[in-house]
Amino acid sequence: MAEKFYITTPIYYPSDKLHIGHSYCTVATDAMARYKRLRGYDVMFLTGTDEHGQKIERIADALGVTPQQYVDKIVAGVKELWASLDISYDKFIRTTDDYHVKAVQKIFKQLYDQGDIYKSEYEGWYCTPCESFYTDVQLVDGKCPDCGRDVERLKEESYFFRLSKYQDRLIKYIEEHPDFIQPQTRQNEMINNFLKPGLEDLCVSRTTFNWGIPVTFDDKHVIYVWVDALTNYITALGYGSDDDSNYKKYWPADIHVVGKEIVRFHTIIWPAILMALDLPLPKKVFGHGWLIIDGGKMSKSKGNVVDPKVLVDRYGLDAIRYFLLREIAFGQDGNFTNEALIQRINSDLANDLGNLVSRTAGMIEKYFGGQLPVEREETEFDASLKETAKAVTEKVDGLLDNMLFSDALAEIWTLIRRANKYVDETQPWILAKDEASKAKLANSLYNLAEAIRIVSILIQPFMTKAPALIWEQIGIKDDAIKTWDSAKEWGLLPADVQVKKGPAIFPRIDMKKELEELEAAMKKAQESSVANQTKKAEEAKKAQAERKEEEPVQEITIDDFDKIKLKVGTVIASEKMKGSKKLLKNQIKIGNETRQILSGISPDYTPEEMVGKKVIVLTNLPPRKMMGEMSYGMILVAEDENGQLALASVDKTDFADGSELS
Ligand code: MSP
Repeated sequence: MAEKFYITTPIYYPSDKLHIGHSYCTVATDAMARYKRLRGYDVMFLTGTDEHGQKIERIADALGVTPQQYVDKIVAGVKELWASLDISYDKFIRTTDDYHVKAVQKIFKQLYDQGDIYKSEYEGWYCTPCESFYTDVQLVDGKCPDCGRDVERLKEESYFFRLSKYQDRLIKYIEEHPDFIQPQTRQNEMINNFLKPGLEDLCVSRTTFNWGIPVTFDDKHVIYVWVDALTNYITALGYGSDDDSNYKKYWPADIHVVGKEIVRFHTIIWPAILMALDLPLPKKVFGHGWLIIDGGKMSKSKGNVVDPKVLVDRYGLDAIRYFLLREIAFGQDGNFTNEALIQRINSDLANDLGNLVSRTAGMIEKYFGGQLPVEREETEFDASLKETAKAVTEKVDGLLDNMLFSDALAEIWTLIRRANKYVDETQPWILAKDEASKAKLANSLYNLAEAIRIVSILIQPFMTKAPALIWEQIGIKDDAIKTWDSAKEWGLLPADVQVKKGPAIFPRIDMKKELEELEAAMKKAQESSVANQTKKAEEAKKAQAERKEEEPVQEITIDDFDKIKLKVGTVIASEKMKGSKKLLKNQIKIGNETRQILSGISPDYTPEEMVGKKVIVLTNLPPRKMMGEMSYGMILVAEDENGQLALASVDKTDFADGSELS
């Protein structure tokens, strides 16, 4: 039975602007998955989308759609992008998938029942407009890092995961498994910067928004998005469902491929959760570097993103995949520039590989009408070419096993360059002039075609189109001479191979002209993106709100007024809302019922002042959740120009509660 190999990418935040930086990680993982399949492994390659959280809720709101509608649309685009990059994933998980939601809820409950999750209070800096908590370090000049406004110190009821309990076990595990975190530098960073200084328990629930997986036993809370996201690696295999056969077959993961900024989540939080669940840990977490533009990380918020679709449309898929994996050493940061991309296409692909194929096919057509004669005579240059091929095929496996994609490609290119040199050494155009050198000419062209066969096999993890195009031109038909292992054997190409030159596989590009056109195309793509549309929708909403303020007061009919159910009530209890400067949580007696109503009237009124007050309540508003608490109605309050508040009331202090206003 084939050995299993389970590899994952991070699951992506659904954004229409998945840029070339995101594609980098996925393309690298895809190359690894393809390589392992070629080596005969039973591969499970997982990718997907991380769809919960407050940001999604807000964007959807600005667009006037539900979060689910929003993510459904975006995810379709993500899948299209992966299709256009030939990403050969075996499974695509969405964290809104029902089976995932259920399994996460089950895991959370189990951890709570066994005492690894407990209820307490979260304290942090809260930004009311952004409805978000921040830590001291996240603040920028003491203000909200997202909107720049003032923040306040607040407390919120939360569930916590006992991360601190696992600190020593984690350190021990990492030290005893030197391959667990790769590259090595990231391992040192985790131990010295995070584990040794000490871990704090992790806040794993939120009450300030709704778009998340609810805690089954306390539905005010939604589960922290990272706990929801990290568990995808096992829920995707059916863990926690009726059919966990894939979990049994593929877990533990052989490699989690992740960007360097999320290594911490994957090598501290995730293993601790697995330890708590008593499950095996992933074998390796590989933290790759970033694609950098002008010295900074390419990211949507900086507006410096490069759209992979534009690049694929212009240069073809293989050129982009090749560039990403060749230009940047996997694990390190690397600069992305249009010049470097075009330069690589022209030199490595058009000049080296493309030229080798078209020259060889062209000469076989020209000198032998497309079919090589069987008689061949060796030359003094053959041995060196064959040795290079042997050495390259021997090295590539080891490099790929260690995810050293750029080094593996550099190795393969030594064979391509050696073959081009062999053309210059054997000079087929001179041999062709002399009938007596025919066998030598056939030998030279055969060896070139054979070197091309070997190259075409080795580039398969990286390029998904070129190998088949090469096989067509060089007449490589038999599957047995396309297998990964067949590259290690020289001379498998049939002696009388039938060759047919085709169009250039990698056409050369005019750098100067192309750079101008490329920039214009990028700009256009940027303008039509959903992100841009979202921004426009938000602006339109703001403009509409401003227009409303200027609009003349609209007249209503008595029927309209009748819809408003106003009643007299008495405040029987009031307290400050934990986590808010303005909100008071009031219990109001309205006739026979008592309602909880939250009202933003602090500090104008203290809870003590509120108790006993007669107030007017709007009773037929739908219930609303604020800061994790429900509010059933609204207390009427007047506000003057200076923002001073005054409660509306009736002028008889003993007036009966529950009386209606009309
Ligand atoms: N949703 C989380 C991952 C949860 S995994 C359980 C997330 N998503 S993300 O969409 O922001 O990023 C996905 C991956 O893309 C990350 O590994 C990240 O490092 C990678 N990249 C995003 N921008 C990048 C570059 N500019 N360069 C290289 N990779 C980058 O994080």
